[in-house]
Amino acid sequence: MNAIPKSLAPINAADKRIVNAKTDINQLAPFKYPWAWEFFLNANRNHWTPLEISMAQDVHDYHHKLTAAERHVFENVLAYLTTSDILAMRNIGLAVMEKMTAPELQIYQARQVYEEALHTWAYQHCIETLGLDQQEIYNRYRVIPQIYGKIALANRRLERVMRADFDLADRDNLHEFALSYLFFAGIFEGCWFYNGFSPIFALQRRGLMKGTAEQLQYIMRDEVLHCAFGIRVVRTLLQEEQLQLDPAAVSRLWEEAEAAESAYAHYVLREPILGYNAGVHIAQFRFIANRRARQLGLPEPFPGAEISLTWLDEQANLRKEKNFFETRVTEYQTGGALAWD
Ligand SMILES: [Fe+2]
Ligand SMILES: [Fe+2]
Repeated sequence: MNAIPKSLAPINAADKRIVNAKTDINQLAPFKYPWAWEFFLNANRNHWTPLEISMAQDVHDYHHKLTAAERHVFENVLAYLTTSDILAMRNIGLAVMEKMTAPELQIYQARQVYEEALHTWAYQHCIETLGLDQQEIYNRYRVIPQIYGKIALANRRLERVMRADFDLADRDNLHEFALSYLFFAGIFEGCWFYNGFSPIFALQRRGLMKGTAEQLQYIMRDEVLHCAFGIRVVRTLLQEEQLQLDPAAVSRLWEEAEAAESAYAHYVLREPILGYNAGVHIAQFRFIANRRARQLGLPEPFPGAEISLTWLDEQANLRKEKNFFETRVTEYQTGGALAWD
């Protein structure tokens, strides 16, 4: 006969922690991290599906208007993004969420997992609509070293923190995890995604591939939140755990990220397209990397780097009144105005 379980003492929200909490993690409120719940509410104001955006003009543009150099740029950006979003989903869903010990953090991350899946759907919708060879495009990250360089960096970090024996009670592992989350939020999403759509936005600014670009604008706004949330988690984690990041490890992170981004940009933009080239892309990476470092409370990795895409922040900061989305009747947000960092 099963014994009736004994009742448990109420828990104290103050005992919640980012990781390694000893308390019951099945209780949402009272919140220890009310900002995390706000992220969840904000994220739910952003709803779209890829099917809502007309791709008809893109099919024509792709086959009849883009130059060979522009098609090269377009396809490789798409190939990189679609692999990256799978990695982003696996990182949050499989490596990060399971380590969190406060439900308000996990709930936003659950939404993030869904959004990464939605992003993958958006790319797949573009690939299908344009009739690209799926076998070829989805394998591109494996056969093009300059794309694989970025994917390999992310894979390496992900594999380390997904080891079965990875225990966060160990301080070295905790440091490794903080660096990994910093990489995914601050660099992978905060720099590589944030800047990664720009070559296609450059086409959009000339009236080309506007459906794809609109999909990417929706995605970009999700990524702005993913980046801001991850940075906040990392900062809070470092504070709670009294953990100092090893400056040499952080420097290496920026150096590796810049080297990988630079090789990628030189391949994708081996020929410049009108209004965009590899130099602009790399300069913008450095400028945004400095911003992410400041947000993380770290020294700027590329002092003196200047903005090269003055229009990019506007793409992320679009307000309803700008009515940028020419192809859509409804507005992106279904709720109140969002504050975008
Ligand atoms: Fe994503
Ligand atoms: Fe993301």
